[in-house]
Amino acid sequence: MEVILRPSTEAASELTAKLIIDAVGDKPDIVLGLATGRTMESVYEKLVHAYDAGELDLSQCTTFNLDEYIGLAADNPQGYRMYMNTLLFNKTNINLDNTHLPDGMASNLKTESERYEAKIESAGGIDLQLLGIGRSGHIGFNEPLSSLSSRTREKALTQATIEQNSPLFDNPEDMPRRALTMGIGTILDAKRVLTLVTGTEKAEILAKAVEGPITAMVAASALQLHRSTAIIVDELAASELEHKDYYRWIFDNEPEWEPYR
Ligand code: F6R
Repeated sequence: MEVILRPSTEAASELTAKLIIDAVGDKPDIVLGLATGRTMESVYEKLVHAYDAGELDLSQCTTFNLDEYIGLAADNPQGYRMYMNTLLFNKTNINLDNTHLPDGMASNLKTESERYEAKIESAGGIDLQLLGIGRSGHIGFNEPLSSLSSRTREKALTQATIEQNSPLFDNPEDMPRRALTMGIGTILDAKRVLTLVTGTEKAEILAKAVEGPITAMVAASALQLHRSTAIIVDELAASELEHKDYYRWIFDNEPEWEPYR
């Protein structure tokens, strides 16, 4: 695992977008795992900008989103399908038929979860998974106590997540209390993982996830088990990390980061 510290929120999301653009350039038929949330908005904005500038071609790409609220239809403005269509899919040349989210309206959520896992497998697995971290420590909607080997399934959301996301709803009471989410095991199967964490409100949970023990109480700590994962952070989110000097040294000296310095 590498922690990459950037001086500003803008620089952190710029680096994340560049890494995605380069990964798509290297493998045009890449399978991307995508996240939603506030942190990702500027990343998608940068991808759209790169597409407009002729620097990104998503025509052969396949995507799988991490999660969707249970009970929100695909055309619900607060659902994640609309988020993705509005911020990325409808603004680029991606083929919508190749974009996938779990169906939060499915009558049988267990069957839907199994279908989603099978679909990821039949696409050849996820090449690059993009993640954010929630205040509860979740990745996807894997809340505390999620099994580190969990697969896509239904999950009840914690109070911390409800407080984090309900202000995004016109009526905060309308925020669903359950979601379908890829499991931690599903996420760890991705060949490469890129996690973007910004802002002071994530500092405490980021320190637990990166420098604390691996525990089901902090789902993001499971990333310590992944062989190819970079956590890109801004100075605000990094404020409670103990080994910042080492993380800075890695970015400034390791050859793999040379093109991004
Ligand atoms: C979203 C997701 C979540 C978010 C996390 C951070 O698809 O899976 O894990 O990445 O809740 O959300 P923001 O960026 O809004 O703080």
